[in-house]
Amino acid sequence: VAPLKVGIAGLGTVGAEVVRLIETQGRVLAGRSGRGIRVVAVTARSKAKKRAVDLRGVEWVKDPMALATHPEVDCFVELMGGAGDPALSAVEAALNAGKSVVTANKALLAKHGLKLAKAAEKHGGALNFEAAVGAAIPVIKTLREGLAGTGINRVYGILNGTCNYILTRMEQEGLSFAECLKDAQRLGYAEANPSFDVDGHDTAQKLAILASLAFGTKVAQSAVYVEGISSIAPEDLRAAADLGYRVKLLGVAVRTAKGIEQRVHPTMVPKSSSIAQVMGVTNAVTIDGEGIPPITLVGPGAGGAATASAVVADIADVARGIRANPFGRPISHLRDTKKAPMERH
Ligand code: HSE
Repeated sequence: VAPLKVGIAGLGTVGAEVVRLIETQGRVLAGRSGRGIRVVAVTARSKAKKRAVDLRGVEWVKDPMALATHPEVDCFVELMGGAGDPALSAVEAALNAGKSVVTANKALLAKHGLKLAKAAEKHGGALNFEAAVGAAIPVIKTLREGLAGTGINRVYGILNGTCNYILTRMEQEGLSFAECLKDAQRLGYAEANPSFDVDGHDTAQKLAILASLAFGTKVAQSAVYVEGISSIAPEDLRAAADLGYRVKLLGVAVRTAKGIEQRVHPTMVPKSSSIAQVMGVTNAVTIDGEGIPPITLVGPGAGGAATASAVVADIADVARGIRANPFGRPISHLRDTKKAPMERH
């Protein structure tokens, strides 16, 4: 069988790690997928930048659009980020050309997920985005496939590694917000514009994607109430600790009689609760399914290696010829998101 030919747009920490994993895990991946996976072409903002990967024999393409429509590319991997162009038009072009797309871009999916899923459905390509939520944690697959037979009532958790890292270090070391954020940026956890992290928008985008998969509704970021952590100081965390609590930035999506409630805000959680034990860059997602006790997935939620792990798994699915409905159901089955008024839980 001919190998799957992959084109990668974006060669930052994640992109470089994806190239490296495909190289080093090649035999295992080929065994699992039944065919090889080969990176044939790439594009990135700077060709001259030093990268720790070997790109000999890989074609350098001038821009994302040229890569997305490249006749040699079967699977377009979008790792540029951002809800608009060039990511949007390149992903659309690849899907319209019948190619499969793998992306880690939660902003793009939260804003244009429905439109892109329609293009994938119409032209038959896969649209895989495991890395968009919880990095290496297989939460998309869990909701989309693992729990396909279970009604979901609630999904919630810690969905932003940067915020949890900041809150952890502020609490444990008494460091300032600014200092902790700088470290999160240095470690490659934060978004290019870190206000997306600390103001809660990154969590809101991820929550909107999870809610769509959980409840069979059209992804709707605008239906999420959002409040971030930028005004939290070490003293606030100390005051919460004195009362037996920790502060976590939670994303919560609940099915109610009045619609879907989605909210993101700092929350006081009892120190003895399992969510309070989730520290550092770790993410945790709890899924309440009908008739079964809650399922919690915990793992690394940000960083190059964790994100690349999910991207490569998605590419392996494309190589195997597995094609899931991007949001779990055919587009015509997805309902409008009816926003429920906020209630106390
Ligand atoms: N900036 C994101 C985070 C990256 O900190 O969780 C992973 O989506």
